[in-house]
Amino acid sequence: MSKQSVRDVDVRGKRVLLRVDFNVPLDKLGNVTEDARIRASLPTIHHLLDHGAVVIAVSHLGRPDGKVVERLRMAPVAQRLSMLLGQPVHAVQDIVGAPAQAAAKVLRPGEVLLLENVRFDLREEKNDPDFARELAGLADVYVNDAFGTAHRAHATTVGVAAYLPAYAGLLMERELAMLGQLLERPERPFVVLIGGAKVSDKLKVLENLLDRCDRLLVGGGMANTFLRAQGYELGKSLVEEDRVADAKRILAQSSDKVLLPVDVLVADRVDAGAAAQIVAADAIPPDMLAVDIGPRTVERFRTAIVRAKTLFWNGPMGIFEIAPFASGTRAVAELVGKVRGTTVVGGGDSVAALEQLGYAGKVTHVSTGGGASLEFLEGRVLPGVATLRDRAEG
Ligand code: 3PG
Repeated sequence: MSKQSVRDVDVRGKRVLLRVDFNVPLDKLGNVTEDARIRASLPTIHHLLDHGAVVIAVSHLGRPDGKVVERLRMAPVAQRLSMLLGQPVHAVQDIVGAPAQAAAKVLRPGEVLLLENVRFDLREEKNDPDFARELAGLADVYVNDAFGTAHRAHATTVGVAAYLPAYAGLLMERELAMLGQLLERPERPFVVLIGGAKVSDKLKVLENLLDRCDRLLVGGGMANTFLRAQGYELGKSLVEEDRVADAKRILAQSSDKVLLPVDVLVADRVDAGAAAQIVAADAIPPDMLAVDIGPRTVERFRTAIVRAKTLFWNGPMGIFEIAPFASGTRAVAELVGKVRGTTVVGGGDSVAALEQLGYAGKVTHVSTGGGASLEFLEGRVLPGVATLRDRAEG
């Protein structure tokens, strides 16, 4: 069921409580080191301001567990938002109560207020109805643009929708459309490229996408568990022995779709100065561990990737943060960047890899959701989406 968005509501002169996911990385001094998530919500904020709304934005930052943590205050985020918007952003060190109400009340259409880190209040994660009602009392309309937090049933992602008409922001709308397309009507061939350390984190996604895709390429640490399922010795590589049976089941179900590494880069330790060499996937020495896919594997993957009309990528092909182990991930990022069809990249690590290697601008959609995009692709209805107004069918 598709959801109504900010485009479906007249916000002129209205106060809009806007849930954003400004959970961005900070350095030790509290400066924002990467602002992709802030930039991703700018279209919604501009839309609201251009249509004469007052914007009262709210986000979490980190996991302060219901306590005030000085280094997790929203002030640096407000500053960055103000710079990106090119206008002042009022910040308040409260979430609800008289000071927040006063700060919200004085705003005029076209102005923005950013409330304090909502997870400073224990009631947020408990989805406390009184807290949600107080927050809702600041506004006339609720807009959720926080796709990255839509898998959490919290007061600002679910609770407030009981008290205000609830609409999707433009980022939320785009995330649902792009990820929904993968599940519902991918143009074929549909290729899924999955990496990252563990099978256990992504088993449900694998299972849900397996039937829907034409090719499943597995790399990264999780490929080891599949190689073990084929009876290979993996040396000191990470293998999830308790997931080997799942890997065997997936291979038995769709072995013709699944492509595994045929060669890997092995190292004697996880360190840039380690002794490393390319070996066949069935010849990993007992004292070495796999840290990247090898060149023959890249070639194997290339054939499938370049033919894709739809491609979803989640998870790096190796320990790409260490430069000598980044070749496989870089090669794959370059190939994904060349695909003519729709390319969607989701999950924190693959997005970081794409940005670090300079390919982020070359894909159709980079999801802002880590856990949220995976849960969505597992086929689950995200609580923060379920509460938004449905669009009339037909
Ligand atoms: C994320 O970074 O994935 C989202 O902001 C959600 O954060 P959380 O995992 O702390 O709920």
